[in-house]
Amino acid sequence: MATKVRTDPGILDKIGNTPLVKLDSLSAKNVTYFAKLEGHNPFGSVKDRAAYWMIKDAEEKGKIKRGHTIIIEPTSGNTGIALSGIANLLGYQVEIVIPEKASEETKKIIASLGAKIYETSDDLCPKVGAGTDQSIALATSIASSRPDKYFSPNQYSNEANFLGHYRGTGPEIWKQTEGKITHFFTGVGTGGTVTGISAYLKEQNKKIKTIGVQPQQNHLIQGLRNFEESAKPDLFLRRENVVDDWITITNEQAFAAVREVFAKEKMLVSPSSATVYAAMKSYKIDEGVVVGIFADDGRKFKSLYAQQKVFTEAEFDGALKEARHVSKIVYM
Ligand SMILES: Cc1ncc(COP(=O)(O)O)c(C=O)c1O
Repeated sequence: MATKVRTDPGILDKIGNTPLVKLDSLSAKNVTYFAKLEGHNPFGSVKDRAAYWMIKDAEEKGKIKRGHTIIIEPTSGNTGIALSGIANLLGYQVEIVIPEKASEETKKIIASLGAKIYETSDDLCPKVGAGTDQSIALATSIASSRPDKYFSPNQYSNEANFLGHYRGTGPEIWKQTEGKITHFFTGVGTGGTVTGISAYLKEQNKKIKTIGVQPQQNHLIQGLRNFEESAKPDLFLRRENVVDDWITITNEQAFAAVREVFAKEKMLVSPSSATVYAAMKSYKIDEGVVVGIFADDGRKFKSLYAQQKVFTEAEFDGALKEARHVSKIVYM
C-alpha cells in the first residue's frame, strides 16, 4: 500500500456515482439482484459521501476554518479514512479515535493519510450508549476541552450524513434501476445510508421494501452494528421506521460469503458487503429488482481473512489479481 495522498482537489468531484453491477449468482428469471459498489468512491467506501457532506456543511455554516480547525471523530474505520483523506485535501488536521480491533490495514491507511490516531479497547463498532462508548467519549472529551480548535462532525447524529444519501445515493439507485427497484438491503452503522436511501426511494414508490442487515452479537464485521448489543444512534432513530424487516447474519455466514462471492462473481468483497450478500441470498424474494449496498471492498482485510481462515495471504493476493470491479483508490 502506498503512503502518499495525491493532492488533486478534483478527487472530491469523484465522490458518488458509483457503479451498480448485476449479481448473476443470485439473479433468476423474475428477480434481478444488483450490488451498488461503494468501494469505487475515491477513498474506497460509502463513507466518502458522509464525510464530504459533513465537512461541506460545517464549512457552509462557518463551524470550521481551513488551516485552523482540527477535525476529530470516533469511527471503526471507513469514516476515519474518508475524513482523513478529504480533510487533508482541504487543509484540515484530523484526529481519529478508533477501536483497537479495527484491521491493521485500516489503521495504517488512516495514518498514511496524515491523521493522528487514538486507539481504545471498544468493540469493533463504537457503541452508542452509556458505559460502552469509549471512542465516542474520548473524542467528545478532547473536542470539548478546546472548542475553539476542535470540531467533531459526530456522524451518529449529523443530518448531513443522512442528506448525502438522500440527495446522492438514493437518486443514483433510482436512476440506475430506472425506477424498477423493489427491495433494498444495507447494513447499518450510524444509519445514514439506510435512512437516506430508503427515505428517498420510498418517496418515489412507497411499495419499496427496505431490509436492514445486522451482524450477530459480538461480531467481526467492521462498520456494522448489532442493535441488541448496541443502542441505536440518534441519526437512525430519527427515521427508523424506514426499515420494513431485519435479518441477522453470523460471522460464519459472512466469511463463507466472502469466499462464495469470489468463486461465483470474481469479486473480492469486504466482510460487510459479504454480510449484505448473505442476507440477500437467504431472504426469499420471488420477483423484483433487488439492490444491496456493498459499502467497501476486500482490500483492507488481508490480515483478517488470513486470521479467520477465509483466504491465506497467497490466496488473497491471487484473488486480488483475478478480481473484477477493482476500483482506483486514492491511497493505493
Ligand atoms: C463497512 C460499512 N461502513 C458503513 C456502512 C453504513 O454505515 P452508516 O449506517 O453509518 O451509513 C456500512 C453499511 O453497509 C458498511 O458496511
